[in-house]
Amino acid sequence: MDDIKPLAQTKKISVNINGRNVEKDVNVRMLLSDFIRHELNLKGTHVGCEHGICGACTVIVDGKSSRSCIMFAIQTDGSEIKTVESLANGDKLNYLQQAFHDNHALQCGYCTPGLIMNITNQFDTNDSLDLSDEGIRLMISGNLCRCTGYVNIVKAVRQAAKEIGIKDKREI
Ligand code: FES
Ligand code: FES
Repeated sequence: MDDIKPLAQTKKISVNINGRNVEKDVNVRMLLSDFIRHELNLKGTHVGCEHGICGACTVIVDGKSSRSCIMFAIQTDGSEIKTVESLANGDKLNYLQQAFHDNHALQCGYCTPGLIMNITNQFDTNDSLDLSDEGIRLMISGNLCRCTGYVNIVKAVRQAAKEIGIKDKREI
């Protein structure tokens, strides 16, 4: 019994977050969402259900859209993470944030950062997408919004897709 060592409670991790290298000791059970919000003070990543359902906590980890509430921070050791704070240039919104603004695609805004990171990842990884109402609703089906009814979100996604030259799969 004397040979059994207690499990380490903390582990040092290194991540690149929004282009900045960070090294920190974290509790091995700390969630990625808590690491981002409380250790890195990036409060744009929201936490809703904490069960991987609502999508509010979505960030991009190594090029993949990921729910930070169901990942441990230590799982991202060595990774590149992008949060919603990576998008704007100072006070200037990026094209997708601007499209949400132009189309009144948010009310309380709680779901918005997660939605925007999910869409950003889909735009970054596809040259063409189904930009019909149904296709866009499918794209955003992993993000729950309690306020808007999604109509203006669909319009914003379509405007942004056209702006950056994403082709409509139905027209190819
Ligand atoms: S808070 Fe992570 S999916 Fe809801
Ligand atoms: S704008 Fe309120 S939850 Fe989506």
